[in-house]
Amino acid sequence: MIKLTDIDKWVDSRFQRTFILKGIKLEVQEGEFLSIMGPSGSGKSTLLNIIGMLDKPNAGEYFFLDEPVHKFNDRKTSKLHKNYIGFVFQAYHLIDELTVYENIETPLLYRGVKGKERASMVAEMLDRFQMVAKKDLFPEQLSGGQQQLVGIARAIIGKPKLLLADEPTGNLHSEQGEEIMELFKRLNEAGMTIIQVTHNEKYAEVGTRIVKLEDGAIVSDK
Ligand SMILES: Nc1ncnc2c1ncn2[C@@H]1O[C@H](COP(=O)(O)OP(=O)(O)O)[C@@H](O)[C@H]1O
Ligand SMILES: [Mg+2]
Repeated sequence: MIKLTDIDKWVDSRFQRTFILKGIKLEVQEGEFLSIMGPSGSGKSTLLNIIGMLDKPNAGEYFFLDEPVHKFNDRKTSKLHKNYIGFVFQAYHLIDELTVYENIETPLLYRGVKGKERASMVAEMLDRFQMVAKKDLFPEQLSGGQQQLVGIARAIIGKPKLLLADEPTGNLHSEQGEEIMELFKRLNEAGMTIIQVTHNEKYAEVGTRIVKLEDGAIVSDK
């Protein structure tokens, strides 16, 4: 499903080039559940953003479902992203002006899902995340943990082929965190490919493979 070869990401300042990712090679098959671990600043979010087509590498090749993403323009990558990828952001990225209901509904609007079906899909998510009573609130009226749950609902509502989650349990109580891991496990068993970034050893073990990053390079993969 995913093939990255020799991916580099760097930033240039006046006198030097700083590598954020260097020589990343990674293949992920459909149906895998990967956990990416590594110290803060090791490049985990940057790698996830590149896989999610929200950022571009400076060098290297990226094939997604055999398509050469590195050759595509922004319009084409954004179309691929919308059709195949659900993304849970570390810092929620909810739309402040939209209610909980509308935030969760957004990916379905992008995909042109019809009104009635959309309403029933959103209702199912609100129910699953016990957010029915909060559906008309705005993000700023929710706690961090609740915003994270809305972000997760939004990411999975369209049943994406690939779910990318950047520290999805970072702001959740351990009980909520475990429920999310249980949910991810079920989604994976139903065929969804998942890549999560986590600092939690136990949650990493829920996946089927652990990739460790250090200083922008993969140092372990098993
Ligand atoms: N746009 C950018 N400009 C400069 N440095 C950046 C940029 N994005 C990320 N970095 C740096 O790259 C490193 C890796 O960042 P990140 O991918 O967010 O790491 P992680 O998610 O593992 O904590 C950090 O040192 C960060 O400061
Ligand atoms: Mg990060």
